[in-house]
Amino acid sequence: MDLVTIVDEQNNKYTYKRYKGYAFNQEVVGNVRDRLEEVANFNVREDDVLIDIFPKSGTHWLYNTVLMLRSGSLKYNGTPAGLEFNDLKMMEDMSSPRTLASHLRFRFLPEQMKLGKGKIVTLTRNPKDLVVSMYHMMQKMGDLGYQGTFEGFLKRFLSEECFCGNGSWFSWIKDMEEWDTPNFLCLSYHDLKENTFANVVKLAKFLEVDHDEEFLRSVSENIQFDKLKESHKNATPPTDRWKHVSEDGRLPIYRKGKVGDWKNMFTVAQNENFDKIFKEKVEELGLNIDTKFE
Ligand code: A3P
Repeated sequence: MDLVTIVDEQNNKYTYKRYKGYAFNQEVVGNVRDRLEEVANFNVREDDVLIDIFPKSGTHWLYNTVLMLRSGSLKYNGTPAGLEFNDLKMMEDMSSPRTLASHLRFRFLPEQMKLGKGKIVTLTRNPKDLVVSMYHMMQKMGDLGYQGTFEGFLKRFLSEECFCGNGSWFSWIKDMEEWDTPNFLCLSYHDLKENTFANVVKLAKFLEVDHDEEFLRSVSENIQFDKLKESHKNATPPTDRWKHVSEDGRLPIYRKGKVGDWKNMFTVAQNENFDKIFKEKVEELGLNIDTKFE
């Protein structure tokens, strides 16, 4: 594994861990090879739920919804433990039912999950919105692997050097589309926002939890952006994991929570270039994802 740092002509600095041609966030614990092996061999339980999601697509939103549904409580649970970012021993010792998270592309998930053990759920989001979300988060934090302009970050994001998804969003989605066990549910950020209750019902069914309509409606209300944002502000982070890159150890997650916020950030040229690459990639990889993003 190499720690790669690229400084481009505009002095934008991009750092990531490279392993076998894949790009990883520098925050992945220790040596990438070892961590991937540990994750691959992770002991999955039948009642595990893994949120595997491309960064900034609504990890916290989905995690807290899943936990409310699984626990039958409306309590806010903050930031999930990530397979590549946290202590795996701590996750092994967690009592059942566990709800875990990861941003790893699907090929790197535990082997037992590939055989259908446990459940996996994800949210997809317009990549234009999530690159803007990622950039803003990095601006608010200490060194998370990029220092520079949005233009410079967008360039890396569109390439297979993108450390957010061990490669680009496009190939991350391709990996996801190749996942073929029935224990997998894919929801969309846009639809969860627009039709929250219907998605909560769908999720409850997938998770095989039994709640009355009143509770499901309460969950739908309690996972609205403003509610989660307020709860996050008052929550104590469960570990010190992110203390070195954030003021109080709390990740700056809840910014705007909007669909289409990219329009406030992209220039016309950036948008045209993005659309061109998007079209090429969708064709090249044969992606099935609904590409009608706002
Ligand atoms: P923005 O930066 O665009 O506001 P993650 O948890 O994967 O890091 O994703 C964070 C993004 O999800 C942030 O996007 C955050 O505001 C958004 N988000 C979190 N909860 C949300 C909710 N209830 N409704 C809409 N967006 C939400």
